[in-house]
Amino acid sequence: MAAAIEVRDLVKTYGPARAVDGVSFSIDEGEVFAFLGPNGAGKTTTIEILEGHRERTSGEVSVLGFDPATGGRKMRDRFGIVLQSSGIDRELTVREVLDLYRSAYTHRRPVDEVIGMVGLEGKADDRVATLSGGQKRRVDLALGLVGDPDLIFLDEPTTGFDPGARRRSWELIDNLAGLGRTVVLTTHYLDEAEHLANRVAVLNGGRIVAAGTPAELRDAASTETSITFRLPTVDSPLGDLLGSLTGRVTGRSREIEIVTPAPTADLAHITSWAVRRGIELEGLTVSKGDLEDAYLGLLADEQTDVE
Ligand SMILES: Nc1ncnc2c1ncn2[C@@H]1O[C@H](COP(=O)(O)OP(=O)(O)OP(=O)(O)O)[C@@H](O)[C@H]1O
Ligand SMILES: [Mg+2]
Repeated sequence: MAAAIEVRDLVKTYGPARAVDGVSFSIDEGEVFAFLGPNGAGKTTTIEILEGHRERTSGEVSVLGFDPATGGRKMRDRFGIVLQSSGIDRELTVREVLDLYRSAYTHRRPVDEVIGMVGLEGKADDRVATLSGGQKRRVDLALGLVGDPDLIFLDEPTTGFDPGARRRSWELIDNLAGLGRTVVLTTHYLDEAEHLANRVAVLNGGRIVAAGTPAELRDAASTETSITFRLPTVDSPLGDLLGSLTGRVTGRSREIEIVTPAPTADLAHITSWAVRRGIELEGLTVSKGDLEDAYLGLLADEQTDVE
């Protein structure tokens, strides 16, 4: 698989501050790659350097074979860009804004198709200024799609979306990835990253502190599995079960949690114990920590940069 983006030792300074402090990564064609990290970590700075919207201080950057500092129109023709905060003219209607942005591209999607993709059918002829926050964000997302781009940059694309709109935009991004488009996104929603991204990089203080598939990050963070269930009555005795388990047992009232390094054996003990007694273990779950748990664990020891 060819690399769509290659970055080596990227640095961006603002005065004495190093917003991006020596990051290296590569993103393959057709990948969905997510940057995660706390406010001020350097996500927008990094992504806007890739887009050609900001100059880098030093480092090597190649995006679809272009140096974004000099790639110009030919390069931008292949990019779809959703900025964290866009400067679109709010006096124009949704359709007018999309027509305007669309005219800059050689390959264009029909405006009505794009309006449908982001679910703004009923708002096409309304002025942007009159839209709700989430609807305005959908216009931003639409702007990233009008040029039918090979490479799509999405800086917190779903911030302000209602849960239904967020799910639909996930489908949209999945579909773009299915068509072989490369997607680079940032998000503070870890479930979004988990759903969409093949790989993620966690930035903190301008550095990449972890990178890999969501599953790799989860596995690196937690070696233990949590088994939870609900006992039928408050005073059902766990009795001889406790002695047979490897994991630690905690419980509040009927809710029992067992955190264990040996989930297969412990689960076998628990279920056979319950079956012998004719107990139905309501709400039985077996889970490893999710990406959010891994992310929070990773950053817990790091000095985060809060202004
Ligand atoms: N134009 C600028 N001038 C000076 N400092 C800047 C400028 N742009 C960004 N910074 C600083 O660079 C750092 C990284 O900012 P950036 O916008 O890349 O963070 P981010 O990871 O996108 O955060 P968020 O999650 O809040 O969007 C911050 O400390 C910010 O204050
Ligand atoms: Mg940002």
